Amino acid sequence: MLNRKLNNVDPEISRLMEEETRRQTYGLELIASENFVSEAVMEAVGSVMTNKYAEGYPYFRSKDAPLERDFSRNGRYYGGCEIVDKAEKLAMERAVALFGADHANVQPHSGSQANMAVYYSVVQPGDTVLGMDLAHGGHLTHGSPVNFSGLFYNIVPYGVDEKTETLDYDAVREIAKKANPKLIIVGASAYPRIIDFKAFQEIARETGAKIMVDMAHIAGLVAAGLHPNPVPYADFVTTTTHKTLRGPRGGMILCTKEWSKEIDMKVFPGIQGGPLMHVIAGKAVAFKEALEDDFKEYQSQVVKNAKALAEALMEKGYRLVSGGTDNHLMLVDVLASLDMSGKKAQNLLGKAEITVNKNTIPFDKKSPFVTSGIRLGTPALTSRGMKEEQMGDVARFIDEVLRSEGDEGILNRVKGDVRILCDAYPLYQYKLEN
Ligand SMILES: Cc1ncc(COP(=O)(O)O)c(C=O)c1O
Repeated sequence: MLNRKLNNVDPEISRLMEEETRRQTYGLELIASENFVSEAVMEAVGSVMTNKYAEGYPYFRSKDAPLERDFSRNGRYYGGCEIVDKAEKLAMERAVALFGADHANVQPHSGSQANMAVYYSVVQPGDTVLGMDLAHGGHLTHGSPVNFSGLFYNIVPYGVDEKTETLDYDAVREIAKKANPKLIIVGASAYPRIIDFKAFQEIARETGAKIMVDMAHIAGLVAAGLHPNPVPYADFVTTTTHKTLRGPRGGMILCTKEWSKEIDMKVFPGIQGGPLMHVIAGKAVAFKEALEDDFKEYQSQVVKNAKALAEALMEKGYRLVSGGTDNHLMLVDVLASLDMSGKKAQNLLGKAEITVNKNTIPFDKKSPFVTSGIRLGTPALTSRGMKEEQMGDVARFIDEVLRSEGDEGILNRVKGDVRILCDAYPLYQYKLEN
């Protein structure tokens, strides 16, 4: 009963998995928050580790020395955890080695839950929290009114300067001094420039606030030393593990020793039950990969590719928010460039198998469902082995599609070119052949 193959048990899901494999294989994935994990990570995530309940932690904290973790005694609520304990310990050790933090909690099921656990640790409902405006590149969990963060806390937003479209640290300081926040959230989902964590730390010190950096987007760049590491400047650093970091879908919290017990308590039993041990095993594998030398090469190619794509688009007349990129992503102002909404651009590009997402740009007059921009990122294409030269091709495809006025002939021709490019940089091909 347990050893039947998926296509015998559930042909519908099996077929959908094959279709999704085809979509990923034969399309250009430019969503900045997405990536392709290695077969090794997928093997871990699709493993027997999914069967194990392991509420608690692989270590014990005594009442007398609550900051010390004793790994010789597990703090689990179930038996049979000896092996998953080792997997979680490996994930924690590797995370700490990658980012240099005192403590890593690898149990958050997602980036949102990592952020929620930090809020829950340091602020009370109604407290003031500073977060980057969603419309300026922040994330839902940084204070959107439709998210728990905006519902439970008094969120005071900060944004980018209207002229430079980059963070103005003096303006943030002024806002912080007036608002007197308990917590300052730093980090973004759509900010193409380097973030100065030290400047935020100074603002937090001056105003007596704690500081949480959400490095979800840039974690891979940080691990490779291509973006400043927030760990020395922040009380808490949260991340997803599935974006530039190229691990399984999930979250993680890094924090100082002083907060480690509180954070652990707030993740479990605070907001979660049993950890996803198969995902934690996948995180351990991804962190091991990220500690290897070729991960640095990969990340540096991600950045080079983003610069090449940005430059190629600007040469074709596109306006990029802030005039370019320092990291893995860029925001193209399609309204200013072509008098087109982000929604329309996303739909047109989708017809040629080029996947992007519509995105608001700073001071956008259009709604988040329509938007004036699209966000493009290079982590996924770089994982396929593409380099600067192919970014030139990608820019050309994007330009042809966006200027096609929906002409089926042009869209089909570009779709054919996309297929040729994808064939030259295969992905999970074995899954389609087996
Ligand atoms: C900066 C940032 N933080 C948190 C998240 C949330 O992660 P998840 O989708 O895993 O909840 C995202 C996701 O896009 C993000 O961009």
